Amino acid sequence: MRNKYAVFLVFIVALVIIEKENNIISRVSDKLTPKQNPQTTPQPNVSATVVLKHDAPNSSLSQLEPASKNPRRRVENYTKEVIRHKDGRKHILLLATTRTGSSFVGEFFNQQVGNMFYLFEPLWHVERKLALTTGGVNASVTYRDVLQQLFLCNFTLLESFIEPPPTAHVTASLFRRESSASLCEDPVCTPVIKDVFERYHCKERPCGPLNFTLASQSCLRKVHRAIKTVRVRQLESLRPLVEDPRLDVRFIQLVRDPRAVLASRMVAFSYKYKNWKQWEVNGEVPIDDDEVKRLKGNCESIRMSAEVGLRQPAWLQQRYMLVRYEDIARYPMQKAAEMYRFSGIPFTPQVKEWILKNTQASNEASGVYSTQKNSSKQVDKWRFSIPFNLAQMVQKVCGPTMKLFGYRFVNDKDTLTNKSYSLLDKKVFHFT
Ligand SMILES: *[C@@H]1O[C@H](CO)[C@@H](O)[C@H](O)[C@H]1NC(C)=O
Ligand SMILES: *[C@@H]1O[C@H](CO)[C@@H](O)[C@H](O)[C@H]1NC(C)=O
Ligand SMILES: *[C@@H]1O[C@H](CO)[C@@H](O)[C@H](O)[C@H]1NC(C)=O
Ligand SMILES: *[C@@H]1O[C@H](CO)[C@@H](O)[C@H](O)[C@H]1NC(C)=O
Ligand SMILES: *[C@@H]1O[C@H](CO)[C@@H](O)[C@H](O)[C@H]1NC(C)=O
Ligand SMILES: *[C@@H]1O[C@H](CO)[C@@H](O)[C@H](O)[C@H]1NC(C)=O
Ligand SMILES: *[C@@H]1O[C@H](CO)[C@@H](O)[C@H](O)[C@H]1NC(C)=O
Ligand SMILES: *[C@@H]1O[C@H](CO)[C@@H](O)[C@H](O)[C@H]1NC(C)=O
Repeated sequence: MRNKYAVFLVFIVALVIIEKENNIISRVSDKLTPKQNPQTTPQPNVSATVVLKHDAPNSSLSQLEPASKNPRRRVENYTKEVIRHKDGRKHILLLATTRTGSSFVGEFFNQQVGNMFYLFEPLWHVERKLALTTGGVNASVTYRDVLQQLFLCNFTLLESFIEPPPTAHVTASLFRRESSASLCEDPVCTPVIKDVFERYHCKERPCGPLNFTLASQSCLRKVHRAIKTVRVRQLESLRPLVEDPRLDVRFIQLVRDPRAVLASRMVAFSYKYKNWKQWEVNGEVPIDDDEVKRLKGNCESIRMSAEVGLRQPAWLQQRYMLVRYEDIARYPMQKAAEMYRFSGIPFTPQVKEWILKNTQASNEASGVYSTQKNSSKQVDKWRFSIPFNLAQMVQKVCGPTMKLFGYRFVNDKDTLTNKSYSLLDKKVFHFT
């Protein structure tokens, strides 16, 4: 009798062991599979829905990071890749601050007419309305939500920030509409309506007020989407965009020597810098002035975003690129090609042609947002317009930012205006 029980028990134990071992084996093979075939890409015709079935119902990608041992992770990555490989659609976000040449760099993408839907500074409306309603509290969350919707070609949320509110999804008030080729071409360009004044009207040809329904349809038809903004302050706030499986987002952060930015702002927005002009005469710069604090705040947020990006956390792998305006000005073609390579979008002859045309001789262009200039000539111009004491002040409040990006300090006026002395350290920002 006893023996019978013993045999039975041994049998059960054996079963349990075998089962466990099976589990271990399958887990081990789970771990080994991706290593054995590092180059394996998902089958192009595996349907996304089938793969999704294996997905945990509510696991967010953020839970799985950093480097979790969870075998589910592979499935997650796999799922995401399959969806993304399917259409190859890319979502480019060009992050900059004012006077960093972002209009110019935005054109690299805007000029890819045909398969690119490009929006110029849509958050302008959001910033204005939030400033009035909430004083700008939690703006970053709203910015992110609007960007997410725009990348999906849904203008509903943006519309709610436009003043006056669009009627039947039609507006004559979209900020800088003319800077988006996609909003000025057929069929988004509708016949002109008499007596409707549109401040930011299309320049190439006259169009009726903007119909967002048509814009959305056009956006959906284009392969890629790009948005330029100078309003996002923290890269980290955009993480949910990366985690949205409907999007394949790439961030390009554009930076520029803060001394040059200040010099440029003082010319473009001179009314804001009346005080500063005064200090320029007095010689003394009050370090606790509001404008100085603002400058410091800007430098800090740019640096903090760049530090996040350059650290390459798992969620940003292959999604972040840092570019210095000065490098673009000196090597526009090479840098544009790099940006396209990073974006995973073919660099078209159309874009090349535009760059050739717009980085060489031309004194025709004017206006504060002008993009047409001899860019390599422009790059050092500020050194002769900024008073040395202001350059020094910038070095004081933006020091760590300047160091990070490789902008050299100057200790006297002669060095500032010595053209043979480069203010640019050669720096390569790796992002693979
Ligand atoms: C995968 O796609 C190829 C070509 O598109 C097709 O020949 C093949 O039958 C497909 N395989 C499956 C499993 O659907
Ligand atoms: C997953 O869903 C369950 C119930 O639907 C919920 O209680 C839990 O908080 C969710 N987990 C996460 C990480 O969202
Ligand atoms: C999953 O993706 C993350 C980031 O996208 C990557 O670091 C990781 O190596 C991937 N894991 C596997 C098993 O492919
Ligand atoms: C700002 O966002 C935080 C977290 O999302 C929330 O707790 C807070 O109530 C928000 N504040 C306002 C004024 O909306
Ligand atoms: C667009 O976004 C709004 C909310 O912002 C949502 O209510 C609406 O369903 C979305 N439209 C589509 C077509 O997804
Ligand atoms: C906007 O375009 C849509 C799609 O073609 C059209 O149905 C709608 O009538 C247009 N709206 C106006 C006000 O013209
Ligand atoms: C642009 O400026 C650079 C530097 O001053 C100069 O060498 C170059 O000849 C200029 N290009 C044209 C086309 O004027
Ligand atoms: C300008 O800078 C160059 C390179 O650093 C240096 O050789 C030269 O002496 C400087 N000229 C003057 C006038 O300081």
